[in-house]
Amino acid sequence: MFYNCDCIEGSKTHIEDNSVDLIITDPPYGIAGDTLHKHYNRNEDYVLDGYIEIPKEQYFDFSRSWIKEAERVLKPGGSMYIVSGYTNLIHILNALSETQLKPVNHIIWKFNFGVYTKNKYISSHYHILYYVKSGGKPTFNTHSRFSDSEKDEFNGSLNYQDREDVWIINKEYKAGQMKNKNELPAQLLAKMIQYSSNEGDLICDFFLGSFSTAKVAIGLNRKACGFEKNSIAYNYQISEIGKVVCGELINQFRTPPANKYFNQGKPMDENEKNIIIQRFTELKNNGTPKKKIIEILVQDTGRGPWSLNKIIKSI
Ligand SMILES: C[S@@+](CC[C@H](N)C(=O)[O-])C[C@H]1O[C@@H](n2cnc3c(N)ncnc32)[C@H](O)[C@@H]1O
Repeated sequence: MFYNCDCIEGSKTHIEDNSVDLIITDPPYGIAGDTLHKHYNRNEDYVLDGYIEIPKEQYFDFSRSWIKEAERVLKPGGSMYIVSGYTNLIHILNALSETQLKPVNHIIWKFNFGVYTKNKYISSHYHILYYVKSGGKPTFNTHSRFSDSEKDEFNGSLNYQDREDVWIINKEYKAGQMKNKNELPAQLLAKMIQYSSNEGDLICDFFLGSFSTAKVAIGLNRKACGFEKNSIAYNYQISEIGKVVCGELINQFRTPPANKYFNQGKPMDENEKNIIIQRFTELKNNGTPKKKIIEILVQDTGRGPWSLNKIIKSI
């Protein structure tokens, strides 16, 4: 369910204790976001009016109030990702330190087209604070996007790289489409959703904006709920969200191919060893380079390169 109201009052009224699996949210940054258009070179006709900012002097109290509610509604073991700029990050960190939520990672999201400045560095990243509520096993789907066997051209693990805490993900253009002042890209949202939830889980966004979290969540076959105080954005997006079909995005985001090493770790009998030796000899006699032979044998047998090399060395 989606509510056109303040998230603090709204969550108290509508969301039960310990009922949400994952919160992904992007609160107003307290930097006069309602005037952000002065810094962006874009056609403001396509930006929805009514964005609600939080005055700087209220930022800490406001953060403390909504984070307290977020902690209450999360299930034990549930996860929360908060996206924040630098200006008021300290207030969010201080508010989090008053809760029992446990810090897991401080992720840096590096994006393209930072706000242009001439006499200082260009700000081109946001902070993503990833916390979990204790009392249950947190969902972390280590292999939801890359398997252990996927490598880059230098033999580096793609699973390792995807789980590093600096994420380089571009913002979306969406030329000619209505949007919120500050929209999160679907690729970024999908990554958090894939790692920290399962199909059927409930995902809540306290600051829906363009409902981007909810759209990706439903597209990935999760349930979604949340709040947006701005009636203009809410009224426009509530009809848009009705067009999203459950699960329609499942094939659009990164998922691992079937595990290349599907027989890794299983016992190997003499017959299998002989077949591998025979095939190796055949390929070698054809002039196939050793590296290529191993690739072919991995494909044929589902065994890892280490065990195949061991057999070959024994010939
Ligand atoms: C940074 S934007 C969220 C953008 C969103 N993640 C997206 O991708 O479109 C913050 C949103 O919170 C809304 N907002 C501000 N105060 C609020 C409150 N107390 N309760 C609910 N929404 C609020 C603003 O109107 C704005 O749309």
